Parts: sequence; C-alpha cells; structure tokens
Amino acid sequence: MGFEILVSVLLIASYHLQCGDSRMTLSIKDFLPDSNDTNVDHTRALQDAWRALCRSKISKSLVIRANEIYTTRPQLFQGPCASRRPHIQIDGTIEAPKTVAGWGKVESWLHFDSITGLVLDGSGVLNAHGENWWPSVELHSRPHSVMFNGCKFLTYKGITQRNSPSNHISITSSTAVTLSNIHLIAPANSPNTDGIDISSSNHIHILGSSIETGDDCIALNSGSHDINITSVTCGPGHGISIGSLGKGGAIDTVQNVNVRHCTFKGTQNGARIKTWGGGRGFARNILFEDITLINAQLPINIDQQYTGRCCGMFNAVKVSDVTFRQFRGTVADGVAIHIDCDRVGCDNILLEHINIASSSPRIPLTAFCRFARVISRFVSIPVKCSSRNDLECPSPCPQAHAPYAKPPAPLAQPPSFFPFPYIF
Ligand SMILES: *[C@@H]1O[C@H](CO)[C@@H](O)[C@H](O)[C@H]1NC(C)=O
Ligand SMILES: *[C@@H]1O[C@H](CO)[C@@H](O)[C@H](O)[C@H]1NC(C)=O
Repeated sequence: MGFEILVSVLLIASYHLQCGDSRMTLSIKDFLPDSNDTNVDHTRALQDAWRALCRSKISKSLVIRANEIYTTRPQLFQGPCASRRPHIQIDGTIEAPKTVAGWGKVESWLHFDSITGLVLDGSGVLNAHGENWWPSVELHSRPHSVMFNGCKFLTYKGITQRNSPSNHISITSSTAVTLSNIHLIAPANSPNTDGIDISSSNHIHILGSSIETGDDCIALNSGSHDINITSVTCGPGHGISIGSLGKGGAIDTVQNVNVRHCTFKGTQNGARIKTWGGGRGFARNILFEDITLINAQLPINIDQQYTGRCCGMFNAVKVSDVTFRQFRGTVADGVAIHIDCDRVGCDNILLEHINIASSSPRIPLTAFCRFARVISRFVSIPVKCSSRNDLECPSPCPQAHAPYAKPPAPLAQPPSFFPFPYIF
C-alpha cells in the first residue's frame, strides 16, 4: 500500500514536471481484471478507463506507454465529460481485432462523440487492420477508423494510423479542431482508404502531417468552412478534394478553405474541386498556395459537372473565387490544368505563378478549360478558356465522363471542326 502511494506520488510529480499541470495519470492496467492479464481483448478495460477519465472532475490523463499493446473492438468514447480537458496519450499501440467478425456492425472503430476539449496525442500507433476488410467487404459496409462527431476544441496530435477499412479519420459536426503531426499510412491500391474526410464542421486546422493512402488525401464535404490545411504531404492517393458536392441534387456548401505549403507526391489529382450536375449550393473562397508537385497527375482540376444533362436545363454547384498560386514541380500526365465547368460557369478562377514541367520529356503539358472565367498570370502553359457569352448550347450535349474516370487524354492535333467550344 505504502509503495503504491509512493508510486502515485512519483507519477504525479513527474507529470507535474513534464506538463506543469497537476494531472493524475490513469493506465489501462488499472482496469484489467488482474495484472497478469493474458486476455487478448482489452475492449472492456479501455471503456472503463475512458469512463473514469471522462467522469472525473479533476483533469486526468489516460496514458498508454510505449511498450503497451492493446486490442479493442469498436469503442464509443461518449461525451460530454465532467473533465474540462480529458487527455489520452497513446505512445504504445492500439489494434483492432484481426477478423471482420470481431468488429460487429459499426460505422467506425474508435468513435469520439460530443466531447469538448479532448486532447488525444502521443507517438503511438492505431492499427485498424483494414487489410482484412478490403478484399471481402464492399465499401458501404466498411467502417471508418477514427471518427470525431460533435466535438469541440479538439486536439489530435502525433499519432500514426495504419490500414483503415475505409476513411482513416472522419470529422463531422465538429468545431475548433487541430490535427497536427498525424501520419496516415495504407497501400496505394487499398480501396477507398481516404485520409481525412470533413463534413458539417468548421474552424479546422490540419498541419504538419503526412497522408499516404489509396484514395483522397483530404476531402472537404458539405458544410465544411474555415478550414486551413498547412504543410501536409499527400501521396500516394488522390490529392486534396473539395467535394464531391451536389450529388443527387443536394444543396451542398464549402467555403473559406486555405491549402498552403503542401506537397503532392505521385498523386492522382492534386488540388481538386468536384461537383455533380444537378446539385445546388457553392464551393467558394478557396485557395491552394505554395504547392510542390512531384510526379503528380492532374494537379489543378475543377470538375463542375460529372454527369449527364446540359444546356442550362438544370442546376450546378456554383464554383467561384478559387485561387491556385505558386505551384511548382513535375506533372506525370499530359493534362496539367483541367477546368471543366457547366454552363452556369465557374467565376473568378485565378491561376498565378504556376511553374510546372512534365516528368516525361515526350509528353507536353496541356490545359483544358471551358465555361470558366479564368485569370491566368505567369503560368508556364497557356490556358485559354472559352468565354461564356460566346457559347452556343452544344447539341448534342457533350459526353460527360464517369465520376471517377480520368479526364480524356488531350488530342495531339486540334480537330479541324470543333463540335463544341473546346479550346485546346
Ligand atoms: C502474477 O504472476 C506472478 C509471477 O508469475 C505472481 O508472483 C503474482 O502473484 C501474480 N499476480 C497476480 C495478481 O495474480
Ligand atoms: C486560417 O488561416 C487564416 C489566414 O492565415 C487565419 O486568419 C484563420 O484564423 C485560420 N483559421 C484556422 C481555423 O486555422
């Protein structure tokens, strides 16, 4: 007993020295049935530790040390908490069950809900073992790894996440979130393993992180606003996407987004805005600035109308006030700039100081642009865009490409007859 008190005193003292905060630390070990636990499932202990942390009126930290490895089935970390700043420090490893059956039917593995002031940090690893899901379970039934829903003043820092069944991180209905020094890793060919997906959330800063996955690096979906993405390296994967927005006629909005000092390394797409024909709403006030490209495909891409009808007969998500500035580096495919808007048009698209070269000397870079008001200054390839006012309604409608298909390869020679006003 005396020894335990001494240990606690030492722990508190060391914490006090480290953090200048008189926090008490909790350990998963305190919640295991006995200290010689041979159980391989720590779901219950982790949940009990969370409840103790969340219910405590004094600030505590739940610490998982570097040599600790726990396996947990899907967990709900439910707020609100009595503690104003619940802190979970993961320096060790948390793993998901290695079989699909071990998860049960859930939307996400680690779900943090309605928590204010949560700090989740450390140098540890969350391994969801998505490799067991990818070959056998279709996308819609594959859970996300880490989900933050309804969280405020959230800090998520330092953690590495591996192999999510689908999205690695999903942020929904949350505000004032900072993600930094996060590393997301899944194979390039893993299906739909997005890095970070954000929707209905605002005042979010993602910085100093690396995202190597099989799908979107970061996707900003409807209801996202005031989002800064700074010093993030993406690739492999699909780059940073606004959208897709307006699917199935939805009213979707995204605004006030700054993507700065980012690198796209071997990505399909770089800076991308994708909206569905027939949708409503807007994507506006979006900046991509100081972007380094290393063998990236299609680094600048606005696709306002994926599908179907045309000729002003229906709506499109409005795209306006988008700046692409200071892009440099190498592009892997012929089409480097692709601004493909619907007849409602894309307004005030600024391309500035774009200095890009083809990774292959035999493939010249080209730009494709229609129905957009583009101002282009100091751009290393010519961008000519048809002016809206000159346009006739094309008949028949141009064939739109499939949602996730690559854009058509540029023609080597401009056709002698333009079926609709493309300008190459
Ligand atoms: C744990 O194991 C050690 C040695 O194997 C033993 O001495 C100790 O009593 C055990 N503790 C508990 C709580 O069972
Ligand atoms: C985003 O960056 C802008 C401009 O630097 C700054 O004014 C704003 O406070 C930042 N917002 C967030 C959520 O980081």
